[in-house]
Amino acid sequence: MTDYKSKIFDAAREVLPDLDPADVTAADAFCDYCVPCFKFAKLLRKSPAAIASEAAAALNADGMTVSALNGYLNFTIDRQALVADAFAARPGSVKPLAGKTVCIDYSSVNIAKPFHIGHLMTTVIGGALCKIYKALGATAVGINHLGDWGTQFGGLIYAFRNWGSEKALEERGLDELLDLYVRFHAESEKDGKLADEAREWSKKIESGDKYAVSLFEKFKAITIEQAKRVYKRLNIEFDSYLGESFYVDKVGGVERKLKDKNLLAVSDGAEIVEVGEDMPPALIRRSDGASLYIARDLAAAYYRHETYAFDKCLYVVASHQALHFKQLFKVLELLGEPWAKDMVHVSYGMVSVEGMSLSTRRGNVLYLSDVLNSAVEKAAAIIDERNPDLKDKARVSESVGVGAVVFDALYDGRLKDKNFSLESALNFDGETGPYVQYTHARCRSVLAKGDYDGGAIDCSLLTDDEAYETVKLVWDFDDVVYNAAIKYEPSIVSRRLVKLCQAFNRFYNADRIMCGGEAQRARLALTARVADVLKYGLDLILLDAPERM
Ligand code: ARG
Repeated sequence: MTDYKSKIFDAAREVLPDLDPADVTAADAFCDYCVPCFKFAKLLRKSPAAIASEAAAALNADGMTVSALNGYLNFTIDRQALVADAFAARPGSVKPLAGKTVCIDYSSVNIAKPFHIGHLMTTVIGGALCKIYKALGATAVGINHLGDWGTQFGGLIYAFRNWGSEKALEERGLDELLDLYVRFHAESEKDGKLADEAREWSKKIESGDKYAVSLFEKFKAITIEQAKRVYKRLNIEFDSYLGESFYVDKVGGVERKLKDKNLLAVSDGAEIVEVGEDMPPALIRRSDGASLYIARDLAAAYYRHETYAFDKCLYVVASHQALHFKQLFKVLELLGEPWAKDMVHVSYGMVSVEGMSLSTRRGNVLYLSDVLNSAVEKAAAIIDERNPDLKDKARVSESVGVGAVVFDALYDGRLKDKNFSLESALNFDGETGPYVQYTHARCRSVLAKGDYDGGAIDCSLLTDDEAYETVKLVWDFDDVVYNAAIKYEPSIVSRRLVKLCQAFNRFYNADRIMCGGEAQRARLALTARVADVLKYGLDLILLDAPERM
C-alpha cells in the first residue's frame, strides 16, 4: 500500500516551512488528505487562503490532484492509481511487528469458580489481541494466570471430605465444586471451627501433603477442562496456564531485590513497599507469612521477562483492578527495571446482560456457556426461517450464535460499560457479527456463480463512487489492524468490518456484478477481495466465516 501521507509530507514540506508530519490529516468530505494552512499565516505574513492556493499551484504530487479551499490544501488521490494499489498486495502480507514479543495475560480464571459472564470481556479482548499481534508478525504469548492460590481451597477440601464424593465430582464437575463452596460458607457461619479446619487443609496444600495436593490438582483440572471447552468455542488457545501457585516460591527472589534497593519496609509485622503519595503501599507479605496477590504478580513479571524477553506485557483485566496494576508497575519502576514502561493494563468496563432469563442462572451467576448456548439456539431459529435448506445448519448456528456474542462484546470501545442484549447481537441487519458473516457468505455465493479467474483487471472500471468507496476500505485495512494493536482495541477492527460490509452492500446494489465482459471481471475481483478481507478480519476477532448462511 502506497504511503500517501508521507508522499504528501515530502512534497508539501518543499513549499511550507515548519511542516510537521502530523499536519497532514486524513479525509474529510472534500478530499482524501488535507493540510490546514492556518499555522503558517504568522510566519509567512499571508492569509491561510493565499498560502493554500499558492502552495497548490507550486506543488506537484504525483498520483494526486492538489487544490485549495478556505485555507486548506486538499489532496485527492487519483482513483485509478489507488485501485491498482489496493490490488497490488494482499491485506495481512506486511508484518510491521516481526521480531517483537508480546505477553498477553488474559481470561485468568479462578480455580473452582464458574466461568461466568464477567469473564467474557477479558477473554475476547485478550484472544483478539493475540490474533491481531500474530497477524502483524509479532510473537504473542497468551497467558492464563490461573487464580490457584489462597485459603479458600482448604475450605473446599474440608467440604469435599464431609459432604461430597468422587462420584458426584466426576458427574457434576464444577457444579459440584460450586455447591460445596457455597455450603462451606453457609456452614462456617454457624460453626466457627470450620475456618480452623479449612486453614489446616490449606496449610497441607502449601506444605505439599500428597493427599491434599492431589485433591487440589483434581479441582484445578476440572476447572481448566471446563474453561477449555469454552475457549474452543471461542477459537482461543493459550500458550501458558502457569497460575499464581507457580510463583509462590519465587516471591523470595523479589523480596531480595526489594531489600537490595532498600524498598522493603515492615509495618505491623507486614512487609510493604511505599509507592508514593497518591497510592496506598503495596502489601508484599502479611504478618502471618502469607504472600499477597501483588507479590506473586511481581514474581510473574520477572519470570515472564526472563522467559520471553517481551517487548510488551499486557494485562487484560477489568478496570476495578486499576490500582493493583498501578502499584505493580510502580514497584518495578522503583526497582529500576527499564522494562517497567512496557507493562500495560488493558482495562475494560462492566458487562450486564439483558434478555437472559433467571432460570438459566445457576446459583447466582450467569455461566458464559449458558449465554453462548442461548445465542446458538436463537441463531438456529433465525437460520431455520431464512434458509431452511441450508446444509450444515448446526455448525453454522454455532458459528453465528457464538460469533454474535463475541462480536457484540468487541464492538464498542473497551472502556465503555456494556449492556449486552442477545436480541440486538443477533440482528442480521444491525451492526453485528451475523451481519458481517452474512455479507461474507453473500460474497462467496456471488463468486460461486461468477468464478473470478484471479487475473489482472482494468482498474478504471472500479472508480465509480460505490466501487471506489469499497476499494478504499480494503486498501488501508492493514493500517486498521495496526492501529487496533497499538491501541489495544479490537473494536477498531470490528467497526471497520461493518463499514466495509455497508460499502460492499451499496456497491452490490448499485453495480450489477454479473454484467458481462471486463466490468464483470473487475467487480468479481473486488468481491473476492472483500470476501478475503472479511474472512481475515473476522478471524482476527475470533469469529468463523461460514461460506454459506
Ligand atoms: N484471577 C484474577 C481475577 O479473577 C485476574 C488475574 C489477572 N492477572 C494478573 N496477572 N493479576 O481477578
